[in-house]
Amino acid sequence: MVAEVTRGLRLPQKSIPPKYFYDPAGSRLFDAITRLPEYYLTRTEIGILNHNRQAIGEHVGSGTCLVEYGSGSSTKVRILLEACDPRAYVPVDISRSHLVAAARAVYDDYPALSVYPTCADYSGPFELPPATRDMPRVAFFPGSSIGNFDPAAADRFLRGVAQTVGPGGTLIIGVDAKKDPGVLARAYNDTAGVTARFNENLLRHLNAAIGADFDVAGFRHRAVYNADAGRIEMYLDAERDQVVRINGDAVEFARGEALHTENSYKYAPDEFIAKAARAGFDCIDALLDERRYFMVLLLRVR
Ligand code: AVI
Repeated sequence: MVAEVTRGLRLPQKSIPPKYFYDPAGSRLFDAITRLPEYYLTRTEIGILNHNRQAIGEHVGSGTCLVEYGSGSSTKVRILLEACDPRAYVPVDISRSHLVAAARAVYDDYPALSVYPTCADYSGPFELPPATRDMPRVAFFPGSSIGNFDPAAADRFLRGVAQTVGPGGTLIIGVDAKKDPGVLARAYNDTAGVTARFNENLLRHLNAAIGADFDVAGFRHRAVYNADAGRIEMYLDAERDQVVRINGDAVEFARGEALHTENSYKYAPDEFIAKAARAGFDCIDALLDERRYFMVLLLRVR
C-alpha cells in the first residue's frame, strides 16, 4: 500500500487507487451513497435484477458456484440466490470485517448454501475453494464497479473472469450507461455531501493505515463528467499550499492542485457488448431499465 500510494503521489497528475476508499468507514459511506436520491445506479440495478429474476434463473441454471467480485454487504446477490439456487457462494472483497459480517448474514439466511468468504483484491488473481472445483461457475460483478477500471484494465479483468469461470461459464455484470451529463454529475455531487465525505475519507484511511499526515480539511471534493473520455472523474483539490508526509517522504501540493481519486466510466450498451466480445464473451441477454440508465448483461464464455 505504501509503495502504491507513494508511486501515485509522484505522478505529474497525483493519483491514488480508488480501492483505498474502502476501509470500514469508507464501506459504510459507500452504502450511504447507494441510498442517495441522486445515486440512481443501485436502485436501478436492483429493479432490473428483480424484474428479470425468471429469465436470469433460466439462463444460469441451478447447482452452480456463484462468485461475487467486490461483494460488500452482499445485498443484491440475494436476488440471484433466490433466482438461481446455486450450491456455493464465494463473496470476494478486500474489506475483511465487512466481508465476514455479510457472509455470515447470508449463511444464516440460506443454511443449505456453502458460503466461502474470500478476502482478496479481486483485480488480481485469487484461488477458488477446492470444494467448488466441479461446479459450473457464474461470476457476478454488479454496481458498475467495472467502470472504476481504466479501459485496458477492464479488458484484462474481463479476460481474467473468462478464465476463472471457464468455457460455458457465465458473467452477470452491471454497467452504468452513458446518459445526460447533468444526471451523471448530480449522482457524484449529492446535495447531502455524502460523496464528498466518502472522497475525503480516503485521506483519513491513508493517515490511519500508512501514517500519512493529510489535513483532511485542506482538500475539497470535486466530481466532473468528461464527455470525451466517457467518465466521471473525482478529485480532491488542495485548498492551500501544503506538504504531506508519508513514510519519510514529503509530498508538496500547490493551492488548487488536484489529487485524482477515481474514474467512473460509462458505456453505451453496444460499446460494452463489443468490449466483452473481445475478452471472449457472447452476450446472451441485455437487460435495461425503461430509462436505459443502467444495464445488466448476461455474458457467456465462448
Ligand atoms: C463502486 N463504484 C461503482 C462507485 C461509482 O459509482 O463509480 C463508487 C463511487 N464513487 C463515488 N460515488 C460512488
